[in-house]
Amino acid sequence: MLAANWKMNKTVSEAREFVNTFALAVKDITDAEIIIAPPFTSLMAVGEALRGTNIRLSAQNVFYEEKGAYTGEISPAMLKDAGCEYVIIGHSERRQYFLETDDIVNRKIKASLKHGLNIIFCIGETLEEREKGRTFDILKTQVTNGLKDTDSENLVVAYEPVWAIGTGRTATPAQAQEAHKFIREELRKLFGANADSIRILYGGSVTPENINSLMACPDVDGGLVGGASLKSDSFEKLVRFNRRIK
Ligand code: 13P
Repeated sequence: MLAANWKMNKTVSEAREFVNTFALAVKDITDAEIIIAPPFTSLMAVGEALRGTNIRLSAQNVFYEEKGAYTGEISPAMLKDAGCEYVIIGHSERRQYFLETDDIVNRKIKASLKHGLNIIFCIGETLEEREKGRTFDILKTQVTNGLKDTDSENLVVAYEPVWAIGTGRTATPAQAQEAHKFIREELRKLFGANADSIRILYGGSVTPENINSLMACPDVDGGLVGGASLKSDSFEKLVRFNRRIK
């Protein structure tokens, strides 16, 4: 799975222009699930442009209540109505700038699953936490609390070390594999053998230059990409990684 997280980038017309070019460029690809997560304002336009293509629509965030007086928020049902199949939950930027806790993340996951959305659940340690040797503790807490009382169906996990996001400082394949393997073991504690079919994506300065070595890791099942997903030719190179290895 290769997922483009556009974050707070692109107007509606820029988003439409990207999708028109990109959908044509990747229409032959059948062995990777391709996801685009535009800002809320472009969901409808991108969803329409993606209809009948091999690319799926994701939102970048959601609120856990069904409806009501929550100014500025969007419900899971609204995302479904706008054509989303996926939603990214727990991104480190939301944890950092919007004070999302594991409990809030957990509520968002449960509310979204109830409405049939697939979840891209993000976790990852900060540089300070890594340097203090707390990486595994943090990942364990985020997995255990974020996924409390949920099940493994419709779940994708994204390991995004905060120090690698937007910094050009990608985790080495060995660092990524070590974290993904640990996450897989934690998922097994929650979901048993079903954990083996959960895709674990790596995110954090993924580029066409480093994707092959990351994807070669046994527990890396895809990528969640920010900066390198904003240009059609660059995101196309990412979704074609496996063909370029062959
Ligand atoms: P970059 O690819 O820009 O480092 O962003 C990663 C990310 O946060 C994707 O969700």
